[in-house]
Amino acid sequence: MNAAHGERGDVVLRAEGVSRTFAAPGGDVHACVDVDLEVRAGELLVVRGASGAGKTTLLNLLGGLDEPTSGRIVLDGHDLAELSEADLAALRHRTLGIVFQSFGLIPVLSAAENVEVPLRISRTDAAQRDERVAAALAEVGLTAHAAQRPDELSGGQQQRVGIARAIVTEPRVLIADEPTGQLDSRTAAGVMDLLAELTHTRGIAAVVATHDPLLVARADRVVELHDGHIVPASADVDAGAPASGAQAAGAQAAPPRTRAEARAARDRPASG
Ligand SMILES: Nc1ncnc2c1ncn2[C@@H]1O[C@H](COP(=O)(O)OP(=O)(O)O)[C@@H](O)[C@H]1O
Ligand SMILES: [Mg+2]
Repeated sequence: MNAAHGERGDVVLRAEGVSRTFAAPGGDVHACVDVDLEVRAGELLVVRGASGAGKTTLLNLLGGLDEPTSGRIVLDGHDLAELSEADLAALRHRTLGIVFQSFGLIPVLSAAENVEVPLRISRTDAAQRDERVAAALAEVGLTAHAAQRPDELSGGQQQRVGIARAIVTEPRVLIADEPTGQLDSRTAAGVMDLLAELTHTRGIAAVVATHDPLLVARADRVVELHDGHIVPASADVDAGAPASGAQAAGAQAAPPRTRAEARAARDRPASG
């Protein structure tokens, strides 16, 4: 099914020297500063950072919802700045699935009808719509809840509907801004597991913003934003997340005290 979608490991989404500056009454806000980033098919990339670090700004730029002040975004081989409004909209519809923190479901529609919305927009024919909606709901484990409206579903189930709606168009890229921000930690872990599984089985390039250290453990790769800058992800050390394999191997050594030490420890060749 994903044959037309290129190869696993291909760079599907790229930011090159991307900056975004907002003019504000108190002075310019540099929400993203010279960000370089590549996202590959089949990988779940987590963008981590404190509130205000620039995660939403970066995700909006990557998804073509906002334009960089400088630098460029290349999605599926297209420089977004070079597209007309109509072509950008078409490219976004064809290649992107977006998952929202607040789910973004339409209250009067059933789970199945919500998932169907993007297929109606793309004028997919009715028989195919039914088939794809059923498949997407099955993938997120909600077949039995297809007829229920959002207010008849739990938060975790609502976000699963949101995810089904995002994947029903078979996107190459999934963008999720704090998708578990409104869920309790156990439900959040389940939703993150689902995102990781879909990313891997479908060969999607997924970018997920979160500041929850527990969720970072599901990532294939982590980048850290700090005041709009990508900083080296000294990751597991700072976050207090479970030790990665690399760290476990060096467990006899004294724990690193600074990020520079942590980096040096990681970069040292393994000694036995
Ligand atoms: N439209 C805007 N106008 C002015 N400042 C903004 C705007 N959007 C975001 N910012 C500022 O940019 C910085 C990064 O915000 P944001 O990307 O929302 O961070 P995060 O998602 O990591 O919490 C913050 O200082 C925020 O106040
Ligand atoms: Mg945000």
